[in-house]
Amino acid sequence: RAGQIPVICIDGPTASGKGTVAAEVARRLGYRFLDSGAMYRITAYAATQAGLIIDATHEARIAELARALPVHFDEGKIWLHKQEVTNAIRTEEAGMNASKVSALPLVRLALVDLQHSFQRLPGLVADGRDMGTVIFPNAPLKVFLTASAECRAERRYKQLISKGISANISDLRADLEARDARDANRSVAPMKPAQDALVLDNSRLSVDEAVDQVIGWWRARQPFG
Ligand code: DC
Repeated sequence: RAGQIPVICIDGPTASGKGTVAAEVARRLGYRFLDSGAMYRITAYAATQAGLIIDATHEARIAELARALPVHFDEGKIWLHKQEVTNAIRTEEAGMNASKVSALPLVRLALVDLQHSFQRLPGLVADGRDMGTVIFPNAPLKVFLTASAECRAERRYKQLISKGISANISDLRADLEARDARDANRSVAPMKPAQDALVLDNSRLSVDEAVDQVIGWWRARQPFG
């Protein structure tokens, strides 16, 4: 039964390091990895390609696209039908569009089954905003991973510069604060820690330290150690 397949939820704000930490926890445990943000990013991308403006007037049509999303995750690459979108969906603009699309309730509903389909043996690590609150409410471990806005903007800045993309740190910070505000204040499935989530601020932790903490919590919850 799906309910018996372990899920670790890692939710939190933009650029908190969730993606990196969740993927590494999954790798170390041999679990599957769900990047739910990518689903919203791809939906926004597909909507834009279809010429749909992302707003409430197009909600039903965008939800239709989301329900039949021809997405494939394959060894770190992401495909929309036959088009590789791995990098195209990682821009700041794609993130902001994903945030807009994710505020539409019908779109969120349309992506529920796809997200649940990742829950397979031996287990799943799910990264997002509402993994612990809405999608996997019975998950035995829920982590809310945060870092200060200053720290998140700096990490994003370094990431972009290392890829040869020019960036401005105060613009990045303003963008991520705007995205957090939208994600936290929307009416459906707002970003917030689940009641039973453990909050981990990784502003001063390395990726390995954050991963060790999550795995430590996970091991402590296993009945047979
Ligand atoms: O994690 P990310 O930056 O790839 O997510 C992009 C946007 O998608 C984020 O700003 C809000 C939305 N999102 C969501 O609403 N629920 C999720 N579970 C994951 C992402």
